[in-house]
Formats: sequence, C-alpha cells, structure tokens
Amino acid sequence: MRFTSLSAVIGLLSITSASPILDTRATPTNSTAPCAAVSSAYFAQTNPVPTVPAQIAYDCIKSVPLNVTSAKKLLGDIRPYINWQSTLAFLKNPPAEYKQKVQDAVDIIAGLDDIEAKVNSGAFTGEYDFGFALYQLVQSAHDGHFSLVPDSVGAIFNFGRTVPLVSVSEDGLKVPAVFAYADVLGQHFKNISYTPSAIVKIDGKDAATFLEDWSQWGSLQDRDALYNNVFYELAQVSLGTSGSGTGTFTGGGRGRWAWPGATTTFTFANGTSRTIDNYARVLVSMRGIDSGEKLQNTYFYYANAGQAAGGNIQAVPGVEAASSAAVATAAAAATPTPESPPGYPPIVVQGPLNLINGYYVDSPDYEDVAVLSVPNFVGNEAAEIPFQETTQNFVAKALKDGKKKLIVDVSANGGGTILQGYDLFKQLFPSILPYGATRFRAHEAADLVGQSFSALASKYPRTLHTINSTVLDVQSSYFDYHTDADVNYEPFTSWPEKYSPRVYNGDNYTGIARWNLSDVLITYNSGGINITGYGPRSNFTQQPFDAADIVIVYDGYCASTCTIFSELMRQQAGVKAIAMGGRANAAAIQAVGGVKGTNNYQWGYIQSLAQEAVMLAAPEEAERYNTSVLKDYYSDTPFSRAAVAPGVNVRDGLREGDDSGTPLQFRYEEADCRLYYTSEMTVDVTEIWKGVADAQWGGKGKCVPYGPQGYREKRDVTRTLGGSGLRKRGVADAKVFEALEKTFSIETENKLSGDGFMLP
Ligand SMILES: *[C@@H]1O[C@H](CO)[C@@H](O)[C@H](O)[C@H]1NC(C)=O
Ligand SMILES: *[C@@H]1O[C@H](CO)[C@@H](O)[C@H](O)[C@H]1NC(C)=O
Ligand SMILES: *[C@@H]1O[C@H](CO)[C@@H](O)[C@H](O)[C@H]1NC(C)=O
Ligand SMILES: *[C@@H]1O[C@H](CO)[C@@H](O)[C@H](O)[C@H]1NC(C)=O
Ligand SMILES: *[C@@H]1O[C@H](CO)[C@@H](O)[C@H](O)[C@H]1NC(C)=O
Ligand SMILES: *[C@@H]1O[C@H](CO)[C@@H](O)[C@H](O)[C@H]1NC(C)=O
Ligand SMILES: *[C@@H]1O[C@H](CO)[C@@H](O)[C@H](O)[C@H]1NC(C)=O
Ligand SMILES: *[C@@H]1O[C@H](CO)[C@@H](O)[C@H](O)[C@H]1NC(C)=O
Ligand SMILES: *[C@@H]1O[C@H](CO)[C@@H](O)[C@H](O)[C@H]1NC(C)=O
Ligand SMILES: *[C@@H]1O[C@H](CO)[C@@H](O)[C@H](O)[C@H]1NC(C)=O
Repeated sequence: MRFTSLSAVIGLLSITSASPILDTRATPTNSTAPCAAVSSAYFAQTNPVPTVPAQIAYDCIKSVPLNVTSAKKLLGDIRPYINWQSTLAFLKNPPAEYKQKVQDAVDIIAGLDDIEAKVNSGAFTGEYDFGFALYQLVQSAHDGHFSLVPDSVGAIFNFGRTVPLVSVSEDGLKVPAVFAYADVLGQHFKNISYTPSAIVKIDGKDAATFLEDWSQWGSLQDRDALYNNVFYELAQVSLGTSGSGTGTFTGGGRGRWAWPGATTTFTFANGTSRTIDNYARVLVSMRGIDSGEKLQNTYFYYANAGQAAGGNIQAVPGVEAASSAAVATAAAAATPTPESPPGYPPIVVQGPLNLINGYYVDSPDYEDVAVLSVPNFVGNEAAEIPFQETTQNFVAKALKDGKKKLIVDVSANGGGTILQGYDLFKQLFPSILPYGATRFRAHEAADLVGQSFSALASKYPRTLHTINSTVLDVQSSYFDYHTDADVNYEPFTSWPEKYSPRVYNGDNYTGIARWNLSDVLITYNSGGINITGYGPRSNFTQQPFDAADIVIVYDGYCASTCTIFSELMRQQAGVKAIAMGGRANAAAIQAVGGVKGTNNYQWGYIQSLAQEAVMLAAPEEAERYNTSVLKDYYSDTPFSRAAVAPGVNVRDGLREGDDSGTPLQFRYEEADCRLYYTSEMTVDVTEIWKGVADAQWGGKGKCVPYGPQGYREKRDVTRTLGGSGLRKRGVADAKVFEALEKTFSIETENKLSGDGFMLP
C-alpha cells in the first residue's frame, strides 16, 4: 500500500481546513550518500513494499557506477533477440500518415550503435544513464510487445505520484479538462463544501501539454490512447495489479519507470496551487546498502551465474503460449470473485478473475442492452475454459432475457491468449472464416529453427496423444510447417514454402501464415479450448446478434490479441467502433491504440528455440546448427540484467486485400464515433455503456462532430466538473466510495501473461 495515498484523498476532500493537502511528508535531507538515505527511510516504515521520497531514490540509483565491460557485453548479447522484432524496417521508415499522426520514426539498430559509441567514449556516468538510454530507445518504438527494462531502470525502484487524475467533459460535449480524481469522488460521494476546479498547470506547464508529454512514457502508439492511459480508469483498475493501475501519471503501467521529479505542483483554475512529494517504491531490501557501489555489488547480476542465483527476472519463460502465465494466480481462477469490480454494476454472468463478465444496463431506457465486458483475453491457464464459457453462457442468457443489443467493452484490454480472440469472434460470427494473416521477419535464426523443428516434427504423427512433450512443443510451434495454413487457408507442404522470404520496405519477411483453427493440436496453442465452430464445437452455427446490433467500445488501450479480435469484428463482420476519451481537442480519434502486432515472444522463449534447434537436430546436423547464428543465444546476460522478462513483437498482422506489406501497426484508422468521458463515467461504468448505446442506437449520442478537416472550429472547454453532484443513495454509495478510494493504492505488478499480450 502506497503510504500517502489515503491522506491524499482525505486531504483534497477536506480542503476547507487550511491544512496542507495531498502529502505532508517531510522533505528528505540531502545526503552525499543517497543510498544510505534510502536505506534509513526504508527501515523507518512497515509497508510490505516501502516507499521513500522520489528524490533520494533517484540520487541513489544515479550513484551506481557504470560497469563498462558488462554494458558492452549486454549491448552485444541483446542484438540477436532484437533481430526478431518484426517491425525494424517500418519503425525506421514508417508510412507518412503514421509519422504525422501517430509517432516519429526510430532506427533501433542505429540507436544501439549510438549507445555503444557512448559507452566506448565514456559518455555515460553510471548504470542508470546507460540503462535509461537503452530503455528509452526501445520504448520509443511504441510497440507494447517490444520491451527491455534494464535492472537500473526497473529492478530497484519504481516511481509514482499520489494523485490520480481524470480528463472529463462537463456535459459530454465540451472539450475535456483535467481534475484530481479525489475531487470527482468528493463531488459524487461526499458533501464537499468547495467547487472542484480543473488543473490548468502542472509544474508550471499547461496541464494538457504536460500530460501529453508524460503520456509518451506509456506502452501504446496512439497519442489519444496514451493520453487516456495517463488517467484513472475503472476498467484498468478492475484488473488490479495486472493492469496499468491508476494511470501512468501516478506510476501505473510503464509510468513507473519514468522519473517524475522530486515533487509535482498543480495549479488549479481557481488560482489555488499545491505541491506534492513524489515517491519511489523500493523493490529490494536495503539492508546494509549504504552506497551506490554496495547497491551495485548486491543487485546487479553481471555474471551469467547471477541468473541462476535469482537474477532480476522472476522466471525465465520457456513457453510461447499462455502456459507461461503466472501459475501462482492459477488457483485463484477456480474461485470466482464474489463482487463486481469497483464502479461496475452487479454481474449477470461471471467470468474468471474479472477478465470477462456479462452485465445488463439496469435502467428503463436500456432494457434490451447486454454488455460483455472483456478487459483481457486471458493470461492465466486455469482461466481459459471458464473464459470461453462466460461468453457462451452470457449470450444464451441475454437472448433468453430478451436482449437485442450487445456492447462489447474492450477497455483496458492489453491482450492475452491469441486463440481466445478468434474464439470470441467465432462465438459472435460462427459463419465467418477469420482471415488473420500474420508473418515473421525472415532472418537466418528463424529459418534455422524452422528447418530443425520441421525436420523433427515430420518424424512423428501429429496428434495430441504423443507422450513426448518435447515433440508436442515442437509440433505446435510456428516452426513446424504443419502448423498454420497459408494465405489461401491451405496447408503448407514444406518449411521452405512457409518461410519463402519476400521484401517489403527493404527488409525480408516470411510468407503469410494463418491460424489453422481445426488443427488437431489447437488446444495446445489455445490454453485448452477448442475453437467455436470446429471439432466438438462445430454445432455452434447460430449467429446471436446482427452486426448492426453489436458495438465495440474502446478506451484506446486495446492491444495485441484485442487488436486481432477488433480487426476481425470491424473488417470482416462490419461492427462499429466507439472510442472514448482522447486528448483535449475535438478531433477524430482512433479506436485501437495499442500494439497491433499479433504475437509477442519473450526472449527466454527465443533462447530456448535456438538451443532446442541445436539439441534436437539429427546428430550429423548438430554441428552445422551450433556454429551458425544460433550460437549467439547462449548468453544469459540479457536476462540477468533485465528487471522484467524482455520481449519482442515477432508477428505482424496484415489486412486482407492489402498487397503493400504494411503491418497493421502502421495503419491509422479512425473510430466510427468518439465520446468524451464525463465525471460520472469515471465512477460508474454504466454511464459509459449508456452513452455508447445512445450513440449507436438511440439517435441521441454525443459523438464529437468532426467537421470537414476532422476538426470542428471551436468547442467550449470544460470549466467545472459537471455531473450530478452529490448522490443521495445512502449506504450503497458509501460502499462504492470506499471501494473506489481503496483502489488508489493499486500498483502495477504484471500478474497476467499470454502469447498475444502487452506487458503493462
Ligand atoms: C546534495 O548531494 C549531492 C551528492 O549526492 C551533492 O553533489 C550536492 O552538492 C548536495 N547539495 C546540497 C545542497 O547539499
Ligand atoms: C563488471 O561486469 C563483468 C562482467 O561483464 C564482471 O566480470 C565484473 O566483475 C563486473 N565488475 C564489477 C565491478 O562488478
Ligand atoms: C451538506 O453540507 C451542508 C453544510 O456544509 C449542509 O447544509 C447540507 O445539509 C449537507 N447536505 C447533505 C446531503 O448532507
Ligand atoms: C480550488 O480548487 C481546488 C481543486 O478542486 C480545491 O482543492 C480548492 O479548495 C479550491 N480553492 C478554493 C479557494 O475554492
Ligand atoms: C522426446 O523426443 C526427443 C526428440 O526426438 C528426444 O530427444 C527425447 O529423448 C524424447 N524424450 C522422451 C522422454 O522420449
Ligand atoms: C534479405 O535477404 C537477402 C538474401 O538472403 C540478404 O542478402 C539481405 O541482407 C537481407 N536483408 C536484410 C535487411 O537483412
Ligand atoms: C489443419 O490441420 C489439420 C490437422 O491438424 C489438417 O488436417 C488440415 O488440413 C489443416 N487445415 C488447413 C487449412 O491447413
Ligand atoms: C477438444 O476437441 C478434442 C477432439 O477434437 C477433444 O478430444 C477434446 O476433449 C476437446 N477439448 C475440450 C476442452 O473440449
Ligand atoms: C453443442 O453440443 C454440445 C454437446 O456436444 C452441447 O453441450 C452444446 O450446448 C451444443 N451447442 C449448441 C449451440 O448447440
Ligand atoms: C553447442 O556449443 C556450445 C558452446 O558454444 C556447447 O556448450 C554445446 O555443448 C554445443 N551443443 C551441441 C549439441 O553441440
């Protein structure tokens, strides 16, 4: 629990008293041995994950000297993994519209060369400056699957701010402004005696500009989606520590790895201004750590052996699919959570771990509306079958209860098991064959793994009943050509046919592969489910809702498997997309703002592929493989020097009928409608669904009118919080308030995983 969070809420709410608000912690004393200061602050408290003032943690981590030998080795050893990143060429030379509206170009390879030159010239003063340069380079790809968090950046401290914010429109029509979420809670649940005022400046800078700049630390590519992710959001909060917490501004998601400064100063529209101390969470024991050198000797694993001794990554993942999901939380999946997540209505059909739930909108005007809330596509093995059953049971119940319309809410959905995305689509549109084209970057290591795996796999019958699990792993991987169908949904006949490189944008890519949904090994890749429409589920032939009676609502976070699902729903079924929130303007925005790559590999899995390709080769071939590029995958330095399991995006998604070879990641696609968040929507998710139903079916929606250039000339800007003010529903609201207030302490911890998942 974050140690000042509750005082932050109470402070803001009791502003009528003249006492200082938000944070009353004493300012740290400057120390020439900043790690000693952290150590004493650390031992002065009892929290399970202690927090200390941000400044002393920053000074401490900055005081760790650079190990040049290790830095050079690390830079060399990560390159073989970066080779697998499918979008290197498109990042370097993206389409003009992507550059104009989404993100700048970045040359990852040149960036690595540059960092290497700086190491050689002594330009980095310590581990942190070096580590952060590396982090920032990879982060600037804005690809949620591509991440490298060096030890210095993420293994010792995470940073945060104690004041969650929201960006809301007064009436759903005026351009949104930024407010402290505690003020929203005060307005809705407490009898506050002041009028909440918008935050107009942060650290002296225009608030919207400050937050747009800050938002770039997030994992998404789209700027409006990144802006949304700065803020408190019920859907993210519903995922607990597996989501991006209370937003990147407070250090949720990847916000925890960015330095927020020692303090943050808010200036409100009413002229008041407040300064809070920022904090750092201390992730390691500071016992006896009194200097940067001591910290270095204790927690920087320079020798490969460090990994075995418990390097910074909790577990080196060896498995591609959802089976790499946190086993620790598996048990939890068996017992369904008894209560709705904070701000959600009663659950009608309950799914596992709040990854999926069915709801109704309990209000006379919305009696025919059912809502399938899907904030994740499963990264937990025990949840796979219950996840599939939730849609099945909810759709059946909704139809029985006379529901005619379906809202699919994918807010906060960073992905999960790829085939759950296909399955959900097939449950809604059983007669459509999903297109879902994917391809890898074609490079020597991938080719060699394919040769070795395809040769081994071909010696055994393709059956789930193989007793040899190694064979099953190989046969169910991409690298056995028997896996997947070709672009025409026909089987491949050889590995060279599947690999068959072709050139786009100056780089080499494999041929198109599509998931074979009736593969006998499908349950091995799906975490255990058969896909609806195939095998024992081929009797699902009835489409439950017309496409026009379904709408998808997004908060922009939709990434990975969520984008696969979204592409099928929008392109193949013609379902409309409504995007919430966005920056403080009246322009059109995209619905999907997260990585549209269709498969992430953790580097640990790539390492095991390379090593197995050698080990499993026929004896007379082993030497050839072991002296090839595959020899570059033996070092464990990339793992022992990482704070979380590093990953790459290995597969591009491609649109049907597009011969340009441009990955979906680099296509800009507007939503059919944009709705602003209102303050009610940030405390009661039903308000979002009502707004969506109004826009899609009610003929009275508040879609932002775009005008000829995508901009309407002039819109009024939000000045007050708006909303219905103090609610008078009594006890129930006191419980909601309490539940929402508790969520202030949520910190991102990554408990979920998946083969199509973006780590928050
Ligand atoms: C604070 O500490 C740093 C070393 O960590 C030192 O360089 C600086 O001069 C100190 N500042 C003050 C005001 O004492
Ligand atoms: C620096 O890293 C190398 C490994 O690359 C290791 O052998 C050496 O002990 C490290 N030096 C220090 C001071 O930790
Ligand atoms: C709110 O507080 C004011 C005084 O500050 C009081 O007059 C009013 O009755 C209160 N309203 C509710 C609903 O408690
Ligand atoms: C100004 O607005 C802030 C933020 O809502 C609030 O905390 C403060 O009490 C307000 N000041 C006055 C004088 O009303
Ligand atoms: C499984 O098959 C692999 C590849 O042929 C072989 O190396 C391994 O020994 C087999 N394991 C068992 C338990 O049979
Ligand atoms: C693409 O493949 C060709 C043929 O193997 C090779 O010569 C070229 O270097 C490759 N291009 C890149 C960017 O790797
Ligand atoms: C899918 O896999 C099954 C065997 O696992 C095979 O019989 C079938 O031909 C494959 N379909 C396609 C389209 O590749
Ligand atoms: C999936 O289908 C196969 C046969 O096609 C069957 O053996 C297996 O039990 C099914 N799995 C589930 C979870 O229904
Ligand atoms: C399909 O068949 C299974 C039994 O094999 C049954 O449980 C299920 O309800 C059926 N589903 C539909 C949509 O008919
Ligand atoms: C491959 O080479 C490494 C050394 O680079 C060696 O340790 C390993 O035993 C070799 N494996 C095989 C199967 O030859």
